[in-house]
Amino acid sequence: MSKSKGVRIGIVGATGAVGEVLLRVLEERNYPVAHLSPLASGRSAGSKIRFRGEDFEVAEAKPEAFEGLDIVFFAATGSLSKELAPEVAKRGGIAIDKSNTWRMKDTVPLVVPEVNAAAVDDHQGIIAGPNCTTIGCVMALEPIHRAAGLKRVVITTLQAVSGAGRDGIDELEHQQADIAAGRTPKHAIFAAPIANNAIPLCETFLDNGYSTEEVKLLHETRKIMGLPELEVAMTCVRVPVPVGHSATMLLETERPLSADEARAALAAFPGVRVVDNIENNLFPTPRDVAGQDAVLVGRVRKDLTSDRLWVWNVSDNLRKGAATNAVQVAEVLLERGHVGR
Ligand SMILES: NC(=O)c1ccc[n+]([C@@H]2O[C@H](COP(=O)([O-])OP(=O)(O)OC[C@H]3O[C@@H](n4cnc5c(N)ncnc54)[C@H](OP(=O)(O)O)[C@@H]3O)[C@@H](O)[C@H]2O)c1
Repeated sequence: MSKSKGVRIGIVGATGAVGEVLLRVLEERNYPVAHLSPLASGRSAGSKIRFRGEDFEVAEAKPEAFEGLDIVFFAATGSLSKELAPEVAKRGGIAIDKSNTWRMKDTVPLVVPEVNAAAVDDHQGIIAGPNCTTIGCVMALEPIHRAAGLKRVVITTLQAVSGAGRDGIDELEHQQADIAAGRTPKHAIFAAPIANNAIPLCETFLDNGYSTEEVKLLHETRKIMGLPELEVAMTCVRVPVPVGHSATMLLETERPLSADEARAALAAFPGVRVVDNIENNLFPTPRDVAGQDAVLVGRVRKDLTSDRLWVWNVSDNLRKGAATNAVQVAEVLLERGHVGR
């Protein structure tokens, strides 16, 4: 495998929720992988992952493991990305990072390829992928912005437990089993029991009353869209859904846009699919989007008391929200000649 033409890939976090989907997406999209190094913690070293019908042994993520790799995806922890992504750059490779660590650094492009693919050209060895909630929202905001100029947006998210990785999925499943057996559910990952519940806190609170997730949504949206002054007001809520983040957004545009014009702009945007037919109760849900790469939008309607627009979007947080977006960045790197020469 290593002698064939193509791109030499490493995945830090290959055994995690995002890492597993990354492997699947590289396979599905037929990315020209000439070599694969699956990496994780010492706990998983020696275990096997499957890729294109072959077993690959997982090694511990250490700087030496990046020697000769063209692209290393990071889907592990923020502290690991901080320590190891520069080691990839130092060896001439490009780190595509899924953590929060590098996103807001001026020298690091923050990329959603449908929105700002050309930003990869400014990379200095590290490219960041946005937060899973931000990606779904930006994919729905950008076409509206291109059609009518975006002034202000108010967002409320409903976020799946897999946004907190494998541990988040396990916590929901254990709590569902506890409740079914009449036991009191215990919680550790989320700030309250998530089964049969909704928690208006994703991650942790800051002194300003917002959660870390909410602040990411504000700053990342501005950076990706190149709108440093965009007014973004946001509340992020965790809900007992396994996969698929949803968001309801109230948008104010420079020039008024009808719901039909907004639907047309959304439908024409790559990676977005409009599912919006209220006569037949058709609207997108997390169940519909799980396993898909498209961002689904619906419930497009005019606000009843202003010229603003409502848009509902759902996206698979593990695919477009993480793995697929990262693989698309790798595709852009290939198309624009940054790797594979
Ligand atoms: N889940 C989402 O929807 C989502 C979306 C966007 C971004 N992200 C980001 O993607 C990253 C991965 O998230 P996830 O949901 O896949 O988490 P996860 O399911 O908890 O998996 C974590 C992965 O990181 C590895 N890891 C942990 N500590 C390590 C260490 N010290 N050295 C090497 N590897 C280590 C784990 O390896 P072991 O198996 O050896 O423990 C595992 O492969 C995080 O930065 C997260 O914020 C997640």
